[in-house]
Amino acid sequence: MHIPVRVIADMLGFPTEDTDKFKHFVENALEGVNKSPEEREAGTAELFEYLLAQVRDHIDNPRDDLTTYLINAELYGQKLAPNHVVGTMALLLIAGIDTTWSAIGASLWHLAKNPEDRKRLVAEPALRTTAVEEFLRAYAPVTMARLVKEDVELGGVEMKKEDWVLLPFPAANRDPERFEDADKVIIDREVNRHAAFGLGIHRCAGSHLARMELRVALDVWLDRIPEFTLAEDAPMRWSTGQIRGPRMLPIRIG
Ligand code: HEM
Repeated sequence: MHIPVRVIADMLGFPTEDTDKFKHFVENALEGVNKSPEEREAGTAELFEYLLAQVRDHIDNPRDDLTTYLINAELYGQKLAPNHVVGTMALLLIAGIDTTWSAIGASLWHLAKNPEDRKRLVAEPALRTTAVEEFLRAYAPVTMARLVKEDVELGGVEMKKEDWVLLPFPAANRDPERFEDADKVIIDREVNRHAAFGLGIHRCAGSHLARMELRVALDVWLDRIPEFTLAEDAPMRWSTGQIRGPRMLPIRIG
């Protein structure tokens, strides 16, 4: 089973046998850009029905997990509204899965293509901490959007109230004015204030968990499979939509 899916399922207290469903929900939400609006809406409705059933089950059988915590949580002396609870669960499910498996996939893709870096990380596990940050910088998986609040000109670009704009964190991470050798992947880069988790008040709420998952994935993989390369003859596939990462990564082991 995929690590990020298992982590989120455990955290929210959902049955682990449902993890294939989560994969389907995540794919519909983030990679369904070419599907018809009706198909995507049906997929979203399915997700919310699933989450509501989980909320009902947790109300009847409270347990020590994040779903029960959210159901009982109070904000300014009031319980959260049901749609707030379900919306938060949906956000965690979507934000916590696709991002992390994209970052793990991109890190393995890099190591499969760069034997020098792979060998260094096998021989010097202490370097894996800076390597994780560098992979996040160089292959940042997430681009978010914002709605413009009022007419504004920024960097010579005019934006109008109600315009949608993209915040391409991956591009910010390759800004030559912020990073030395911005296009080079340097696994022991020391100064690395990247924006892979966003900036400002909406900065990723799961960044510590994500970093831990990336580190554990790298440790377990490199300790068990130190020798691997890209299987050049097999097709590789990248995601579509606003989260970037490999979706099929054929590698040769040994
Ligand atoms: C490598 C993995 C991850 C990356 C690169 C990532 C990146 C991001 C980015 C760029 C944002 C948006 C920041 C903004 O809009 O300014 C975000 C938001 C968020 N992320 Fe992550 N994320 C990752 C993993 C996770 C995980 C594991 C969780 C939860 C378990 C999570 C939960 C959230 C939540 C709840 C938000 C919304 C925060 C808000 O709007 O206030 N993320 N993430």
